[in-house]
Amino acid sequence: MNTNFSIPSSTLGYVDNRLHFHHKPLQEAISNYSTPFYLYSKQGLKDNIEYFHSCAQNFFDHPCIHYAMKANSHPEVLKMIASLGHGVDIVSLGEYKLAVSAGVSPSKIIFSGVGKTEMEIEEIISQKESIKSFNVESIDELETIQKISSRYNQITNIAFRLNPDVRAQTHQHISTGGSCHKFGMTSGEIEVALAQKWPNLNLVGLSIHIGSQLKNFEATKNAINEMLDLIRRNDLRHLSFLDFGGGLGIFYGPHDHDLTSAPDYFSQIKSQIAPFFENSQFPQIIFEPGRFITGNAGVLISKVVRMKDNGIKHFVILDAGMTELIRPALYDAYHEILPFDRRDEKDEIYDFVGPICETGDFFAKDRSSTLIKKNDYVAIGNCGSYARCMASTYNAREIPPEYFIEDIK
Ligand code: LLP
Repeated sequence: MNTNFSIPSSTLGYVDNRLHFHHKPLQEAISNYSTPFYLYSKQGLKDNIEYFHSCAQNFFDHPCIHYAMKANSHPEVLKMIASLGHGVDIVSLGEYKLAVSAGVSPSKIIFSGVGKTEMEIEEIISQKESIKSFNVESIDELETIQKISSRYNQITNIAFRLNPDVRAQTHQHISTGGSCHKFGMTSGEIEVALAQKWPNLNLVGLSIHIGSQLKNFEATKNAINEMLDLIRRNDLRHLSFLDFGGGLGIFYGPHDHDLTSAPDYFSQIKSQIAPFFENSQFPQIIFEPGRFITGNAGVLISKVVRMKDNGIKHFVILDAGMTELIRPALYDAYHEILPFDRRDEKDEIYDFVGPICETGDFFAKDRSSTLIKKNDYVAIGNCGSYARCMASTYNAREIPPEYFIEDIK
């Protein structure tokens, strides 16, 4: 058993009251850059990829990683994924093009999503090299892929994304595995599809993805049981892969102490499925981590425009807003906000807000923090995933640049 791995250490923290990101003091590092901007670490990314992969290897032979590139599709991230031999999970033609131009082989691309258009499907099927699988989410999509494959006289690999009807413990907007959600197909729908002939389709796998930033393993366990039931009822043990999606949570703050660790996650999946495949060929095991790979490898750097105290609230008004990080507004998400200098004075309670004309434009409410002053800089933690990729130009703002700490002299 390979025990040669350790958890990537925390990469944002104080040394002598000065904030460091990947061993560099931020104040000096960024003195020539105007804010706001995203700052990533190549080393952080590499550590996360290698950690996730080596943990998975500890439990499975040749586990396959398909990075969910919706989390952060910066070309350098994709190049690193490709250079380390991994694949991606895409949800649009745009992501396909980015992945291929970063060097990801089409044979390592899985295409998920409920709304793949005919144009997107045709563009991908018409390429010389086929993708690994279309993870299909409806019978209508299946019919479309069949029609286009037949027109191109091709056999297309597909997998069914099962909607296992489970309630994952996470924010309701990022829970995807219930029958009230638009994602995947119920086992009944999959069985209807299995009963029909699809001359140009080759069923290669089954997938589940029940949500993101999952708080515990409970719903995943139930979803896997549903998947195994479906396999048993329909004699699908011969499938070449089982895809367990993404969703593994990362540590954002005080509410995240009980998250399932990566080794526990893989160990639980292994113990659930191993007995099932005892007497048959073990399928390839696929994971689609997004947040786990990029989340803590990035921060958002912002400057305090001004302080404002109305006697009820003490606002820290930053030059970044919901346009750069919408997660607090959308999901009530917690992100650490750390000023570059930690002062000795007593902590204060602040609302950290942005400049956008929306009450929802906040990063944190009633947050205890070291004393903050006008023109201070802050780093907002865990902005490597779902920050830049969800940015908008609302209020005619520009999308801020992205830098790598390794490239900053
Ligand atoms: N696979 C599929 C099919 C997905 O839909 C997703 C995420 C993933 C994998 C990766 O999940 P992860 O490992 O990153 O949890 N904007 C939200 C997250 C939305 C996730 C959507 N799907 C947020 O900021 O929390």
